[in-house]
Amino acid sequence: MKIVRSLSELRSAVRELPRPLGFVPTMGYFHEGHLSLMRASRKENRSTAVSLYVNPMQFGPQEDLTRYPRDEARDRRLAEEEGVDLLFIPTDEEMYPPEGRIPGSLQRTRVQVEGLSSIWEGASRPGHFDGVATVVLKLFHLVQPDVAYFGQKDYQQALVIRTLVRDLDVPVDIRVLPTVREPDGLAMSSRNAYLSPEERKAAPRLYQALRLGEDLIRKGERDPQAVIWQMESFLSKEPLCRLDYVTVADPETLLVPAEIRLPVVLLGAAWFGQARLIDNLIVR
Ligand code: PAJ
Repeated sequence: MKIVRSLSELRSAVRELPRPLGFVPTMGYFHEGHLSLMRASRKENRSTAVSLYVNPMQFGPQEDLTRYPRDEARDRRLAEEEGVDLLFIPTDEEMYPPEGRIPGSLQRTRVQVEGLSSIWEGASRPGHFDGVATVVLKLFHLVQPDVAYFGQKDYQQALVIRTLVRDLDVPVDIRVLPTVREPDGLAMSSRNAYLSPEERKAAPRLYQALRLGEDLIRKGERDPQAVIWQMESFLSKEPLCRLDYVTVADPETLLVPAEIRLPVVLLGAAWFGQARLIDNLIVR
């Protein structure tokens, strides 16, 4: 496995890789969710590149950028074990060179996917998806993959990326793979590292709330507000959980429908202590 840190090293390394090239963008601190994407890429392509970059542009000023979990040595080992060919670990200076910066901003240019970027996660984390869309487009230009892999775990993010790729004619196929979960249902996330043992025990409740919503819909409930209310009420019974939002939405627009017609996506975000966790479930 080749490890590169500069854009120039990356460009020449990419030229050597046999096509098709699969690409998995990450922020590191790998878990089975990340590894499942690497495995899929390995299976479906002749080479696989992974980026490990905690992108400051997608973090708000009050968010967890500085304490985001990192373990580069472990990540290198795991990527190597998965048969990754190229690991790109850029510095902030490489991704956002000083000459491109202006006061209060890492660079002047930003990519915004209107509407999809300002609801749900976007409403709670203003600017987050602009930061994601911008860095992912930069990475696509740098790595020039044939296929890129994302997790359903970040449903809205995957939708933002799909939309960006379609709207800007980016020549890459986007694949979205299922959420990998712990045995008790908790979606794997690097941020689960923030949970205390008590919070860890409570955290699967977010997924359980989504399952409850799914159940109601399968039993014939067609009123989104009724489903939302039941999920909210279920989450409010867990004292360690501070709900941000839980909702029923159209899988493409993410708007709450007037009446539920399948498919719909159930989306939720909640705080357990210092950890803000998200999850989702598609009801087909
Ligand atoms: P990160 O949170 O490291 O996630 C990298 C990829 O792994 C994303 O596509 C995410 O959806 C996927 N993933 C995370 N947890 C998963 C799980 N439990 N099951 C399946 N896939 C999972 O998402 C980001 O980084 C960043 O926003 C990034 C796209 C790299 C841009 O900076």
